[in-house]
Amino acid sequence: MAFELACPNHAPASFIAPEALVARAPFAICNEAPSDHAAREALLDDAFGPARFLKTCQRLRDGSAPAPGLALVATDSVGALIGTLRLWPVLAGGRAALLLGPLAVAAQARSLGVGGALIRESLARAADFGHRAVLLVGDAPYYARFGFERRFTERLTMPGPVERARFLGLELVDGALSGARGRVVPAAAHQIGLPQAA
Ligand SMILES: CC(C)(COP(=O)(O)OP(=O)(O)OC[C@H]1O[C@@H](n2cnc3c(N)ncnc32)[C@H](O)[C@@H]1OP(=O)(O)O)[C@@H](O)C(=O)NCCC(=O)NCCS
Repeated sequence: MAFELACPNHAPASFIAPEALVARAPFAICNEAPSDHAAREALLDDAFGPARFLKTCQRLRDGSAPAPGLALVATDSVGALIGTLRLWPVLAGGRAALLLGPLAVAAQARSLGVGGALIRESLARAADFGHRAVLLVGDAPYYARFGFERRFTERLTMPGPVERARFLGLELVDGALSGARGRVVPAAAHQIGLPQAA
C-alpha cells in the first residue's frame, strides 16, 4: 500500500508500508529536522549508552555530516520521535559508498517494522540519489534480510577494531564493491560527486 504520511514539523516523505503494520501502529518516516536533535541523542543514549562514542564507526562520523537527504527519523501518531537512522558518505578502498548507522528504535516501538522501514526507505533514497554501495557494522542476522552480506567487505578495513563478522556491505549497483580493497575513510558529499539532495 503506497501512501503519504503526515510528518508534523518535518519535510514530508512517502514510503511503502505493509497495510498490516500500519493497522498495528501508524508511524511516519521523515527527514530529520534540526529540532529532532535532542530527542535523537536521547534515543541513541538509551539504545547504546555512552560507549557509542567509542565505536570505530564513530571515527567515520566525527566531523562529518550525514549524506544529504539521508538523515531520517520515524515518528509516532503524535509526532514523537521513535526511530533514527543516518547514512554517511565514505570512501571504501577508494570507492564511493555510504556508512549506515546508527540505527535505533525506541524500546516501546520495537518489532513493529519501524527499523525495517527506516532501512528500506534509506536504501531506496540512496539508490535514487545515485549512491552505489552501503556499508555497516551490525548484527548480520538482522541486516541480512535487507541484503547486507559479509562478502562485500572481505578486503576492506575500518579505521579501528571491528568484529569482522559484523562488517557488512550491500551493492546498490551491481559490482560497486567488486574488488574493493583498502581502508574505509570519511568522504564529504562533494568528494563523491553526487548531487546535493535536499
Ligand atoms: C535493531 C533495532 C533497530 C530493530 O528495530 P525494530 O523496529 O524493532 O525492527 P523491525 O520491527 O523492523 O524488525 C524486528 C525484527 O528484527 C528482529 N531483530 C531485532 N534486532 C535483531 C538483532 N540484533 N538480530 C537479529 N534479529 C533482530 C526482531 O526479533 C524482530 O523479529 P520478528 O519480526 O521476527 O519479531 C532495534 O531493536 C534497536 O533499536 N535495538 C537497539 C539498538 C541496535 O541494536 N541498533 C542496531 C545496531 S546493530
